[in-house]
Amino acid sequence: MPGTIGILTAGGDSPGLNAAIRAVGKAAQRAYGMEVLGFKDGFLGLMHDRYEHLDSDDLSGILTRGGTVLGTSRVKVDRIDIEGEKVDGRDQMRRVVEGHGLDALVCLGGDGTARNALKLADVGVPVLALPKTIDNDVAGTDTTFGFDTAMYIATEAIDRLHSTAHSHHRIMVVELMGHSVGWLTLGAGIAGGADVILIPEIPYDVEAVASSISERRAAGSTFSIVAVAEGAISRRDAGIRESMTTQMEDAATSERKSIKKKLRELESTRSGGTAQLASTLAGLTGLESRITILGHVQRGGTPTPTDRLLATRLGTACADYIAEGTHGVLVATRGDTIEPVPLKKVAGKTKRVPLDHDWIETARHLGVALGD
Ligand code: F6P
Repeated sequence: MPGTIGILTAGGDSPGLNAAIRAVGKAAQRAYGMEVLGFKDGFLGLMHDRYEHLDSDDLSGILTRGGTVLGTSRVKVDRIDIEGEKVDGRDQMRRVVEGHGLDALVCLGGDGTARNALKLADVGVPVLALPKTIDNDVAGTDTTFGFDTAMYIATEAIDRLHSTAHSHHRIMVVELMGHSVGWLTLGAGIAGGADVILIPEIPYDVEAVASSISERRAAGSTFSIVAVAEGAISRRDAGIRESMTTQMEDAATSERKSIKKKLRELESTRSGGTAQLASTLAGLTGLESRITILGHVQRGGTPTPTDRLLATRLGTACADYIAEGTHGVLVATRGDTIEPVPLKKVAGKTKRVPLDHDWIETARHLGVALGD
């Protein structure tokens, strides 16, 4: 000590990334006298050694900014696309880390970043990961920064959809992000008072959804708000997906590619799926329907105080772990505390909404239809 550390941000941008960069950097500089390098555009910038020195001026004034001042990219460190060829970039990245004499490389990202970080740890890079994502699907941590902000934005959108829904007596189907999990849709759906909430963890039956809307109508409510996760799937499609997955496991290597392609096609129909869902519900209930796809608005703009605080606590704790010589970990939240969790235990795992989770029980007690 003092030493030098590198920071990068990877995967989809998320509110709170700048707060975390600031926290890691300031704590490393102020508490431990470390020098801080910021690599541009995630692992791609690391591979090509594109970086800037982050001094205290660079770390000032970014707490409230959305996005990431370092830029980001989505790549797999062992399959980087270079002129159409998939290249394992890990040795090159390790050389860059060694060339700068880095004591630690801090990777801010979601589950994909945790996987990349572990792959770099496997070739000897001293990595630490911080959990960010609006999806809240990183295993090993209670929560991730970005999630609270996205829930706030999505809840506000659902609030606003209520006034037009009841004025026109319509079904308003609103699609939320969340990748393959339902945390964001369930949280914002409950907070925004949605009448139907559809999440990937509970494949839905469209007729059951329509019946719940018709029952509301019979009881005097002439509109319904349906919050649907982008990864939500009907029971029928879930059945097809399951049998294709089994087929793929049993298939010869040559057949796997085409089954995989079909599976991808099934996944990619999800936005069309939301439009289809809205029109089927209109047909079955006799009500008009409209769709709203919130998309990237959910991860834009300034982070909430909760996300700023979380990102700052994780960032400063990360600097302490670096100073202690800890690496190969995800800096995670557990209750009111922060703890390092070995990347080996979390990388490649997805934190889904457990079916007995309190939020699911809460929604059911309120009479919210979950499509099952
Ligand atoms: O992981 C965050 C997320 O916003 C997901 O909710 C969504 O499925 C995905 O990223 C969208 O990715 P992209 O910005 O690359 O289209």
